[in-house]
Amino acid sequence: MSPRLKIGNVTELPAEGQAKEFQCGAKTLCVTRLDGAVSALEGVCPHRGGPLGQGVIEEGKVVCPWHGWQFDAKTGAVGEDDEGVATYPVTIEGDDVFVEI
Ligand code: FES
Repeated sequence: MSPRLKIGNVTELPAEGQAKEFQCGAKTLCVTRLDGAVSALEGVCPHRGGPLGQGVIEEGKVVCPWHGWQFDAKTGAVGEDDEGVATYPVTIEGDDVFVEI
């Protein structure tokens, strides 16, 4: 079973339609909120290591700020194929936000 780690408070989560970077131990996460759903994606772009959590969400996709690769803001997928970034389950209990990594 994956460890469940607290990444912050609900007040720190991104606003609807936005992405935000969170540090969780050695891992950098890109946390998104889209259609009310909070998702945690791997935060390092597989292209050249760009910070996905510093990107914007356009048409449901996180756009990497370095060269514009686009990842589904909920699933991390790129297009129709299997490439993309990992996602991690998010749970919210009271004011605390946890991610299973
Ligand atoms: S590092 Fe993300 S698109 Fe190049």
